[in-house]
Amino acid sequence: MEQKPVPRHIAIIMDGNGRWAKKRGLPRTAGHAAGAETFRRIANYCRTLGVEYLTVYAFSTENWKRSEEEVGAIMKLLGNYLKEALRDMEKNHVRFRFFGDLTRLSPKLQQLCAEAENKSAVFGDVQVNFCLNYGGRDELVKASQAFARDVAGGKYTPEDLTEELLASYLYSQNVPDPELIIRPSGEMRTSNFLLWQSAYSEYVFMDVLWPDFSPEDLDQAIAEYNGRNRRFGGV
Ligand code: FPP
Repeated sequence: MEQKPVPRHIAIIMDGNGRWAKKRGLPRTAGHAAGAETFRRIANYCRTLGVEYLTVYAFSTENWKRSEEEVGAIMKLLGNYLKEALRDMEKNHVRFRFFGDLTRLSPKLQQLCAEAENKSAVFGDVQVNFCLNYGGRDELVKASQAFARDVAGGKYTPEDLTEELLASYLYSQNVPDPELIIRPSGEMRTSNFLLWQSAYSEYVFMDVLWPDFSPEDLDQAIAEYNGRNRRFGGV
């Protein structure tokens, strides 16, 4: 049988943690803890499949509206994961990048992000991009500001701006656009995720809540992606 290719880059909106917890009479934070476990399992599975880039929406620019307790719990889970990743780096060979404005994170978490990004830069089995305090619109505003500064500084004229040049100002610089974006939990919105990079991505929306998302669900999403006819505006 013909082996269908796996997408090089898969992006996931890890949605439904709160509803998963509510269904079980648990606090929302328990849903995030379960979601972090699912992330571990799915990241490992992506590596097994040969996926080169996995981008996950871990915390949006809008998520600060949640309670201090919930925000703190998500940040703690991320910190614990990064400590673990730093410890196991030589074994796992995962490269980490962070998309988002990290300056609003605690100094300790910023330090862990910087350490994970710097120390893992030599690895390349799979690259995990964590979107943290990330918003697609915010990313475009920050890229526009940086380009405007370079124009003011005489490096470019406004006419120099091309799609490629603009992309080089984004958090995702040097990362190919995701072929497949998965949103579990039944919601059918993009929620400010990878606005520029998703121009030609295939979206797969699934009914499962993120903590229940399994390797079989990922297989199903990839199968659906493989069944699509990607035309990129052509015929
Ligand atoms: C969306 O579900 C999920 C988030 C805002 C947080 C995602 C964070 C994690 C999975 C943990 C991060 C840690 C690691 C190691 C990846 P929701 O809370 O909006 O769910 P709901 O729509 O059911 O309320």
